[in-house]
Amino acid sequence: MLTTTLLDSAATAGELLRTGKLVAFPTETVYGLGVDATSSQAVARLFEAKGRPSDNPLIVHLHSAAAWHQAAREMTPSADQFLQAFAPGPLTVVLPRGNSIASDVCAGLDTVGIRIPKCQLAREVLRVADRPIAAPSANRSGTPSCTTWQAVVEDLDGRIDAVLMGQVSAVGLESTVVDCCGEVPVLLRTGAITLEQLQSVVPSTRGLQHDSDEDRRRKSPGLNHPHYQPRAQVQLFANEDQLQQLLDHADGAVAVGRVVVGKDAELHAIGPNATSDLSRRSSVILSQEFSSVEAYAQGFYEFLRQADRRSAAVVFLQLAPATGIGVALRDRQLRAAGTKNH
Ligand code: TXA
Ligand code: MG
Repeated sequence: MLTTTLLDSAATAGELLRTGKLVAFPTETVYGLGVDATSSQAVARLFEAKGRPSDNPLIVHLHSAAAWHQAAREMTPSADQFLQAFAPGPLTVVLPRGNSIASDVCAGLDTVGIRIPKCQLAREVLRVADRPIAAPSANRSGTPSCTTWQAVVEDLDGRIDAVLMGQVSAVGLESTVVDCCGEVPVLLRTGAITLEQLQSVVPSTRGLQHDSDEDRRRKSPGLNHPHYQPRAQVQLFANEDQLQQLLDHADGAVAVGRVVVGKDAELHAIGPNATSDLSRRSSVILSQEFSSVEAYAQGFYEFLRQADRRSAAVVFLQLAPATGIGVALRDRQLRAAGTKNH
């Protein structure tokens, strides 16, 4: 068991990373668990601490896009365009792997995902570390990602060296991952930067929906593993009728997460009736209404964690609308519910 130190200095966090330590730090998407990507020894400790399967590659974080050569062998035209448009920000581009990156970081693949976070504290950590930093989300493998430092401590205390105490992550969902190695860029994981935004920069960019399951898993190894699942069972509903049915048949303590967006017809269906009904039901121990899809995305993982802290047996979640960041939120919701394995 390690002693995990709580830090309030990004410079100290960066210094610790320089000496091969495991340090969690905030980013605008979710908290990351950082380690020197050039040290195979340090990287091995990270896989152990997270309980992460070794066939799932890590994203390498850099202080600026200009430092891409610290991690990649080659910059491709599409990655260059995406980085110019969206870096620093919630985007990961996959490129041919450079030699200095420990091969375990990339799970033996010949490619590497690189990301330049926007969060000021993260950038300061990376500036001081002055080397490529591999950083998966700072949670135990399979559990919901962490958007607060307290959640990181809850999951990883005693397993990592330090946690930098920052703000709540602004976006709340992991970065968009796009494979930029081929002629046509391929969106591997949805995030705050949407397929439409990517296509506005490189029009040929495509999603994975037309690939066979086998191709998807090969291109995006993260899809092979269960993700984002709380201990409570997650069930999704689209409208008030479905919520009522779920509530009528619920067994045990219930947590309900919903989004109320007045001008969106689909979401408007969940109205004040449901609210009053919920407060009358003794089985409902936690209920949260988010005021926008963005707020729903930001609060999503913390809501799941809160449900577990209160020992909810089931979590009923309103399915997010499939626009903007709602596309990425839906993806995480389906995975949390275990209804999407790829
Ligand atoms: O927002 C984020 O990306 C956060 C913060 C900390 O930056 N990090 C994060 O890391 O979500 P992680 O390890 O939880 O997810 C990394 C995802 C996985 O789905 C993995 O399969 C994919 O990125 N990935 C990483 N390198 C890849 C590569 N070379 N080729 C294909 N997919 C890759
Ligand atoms: Mg993760």
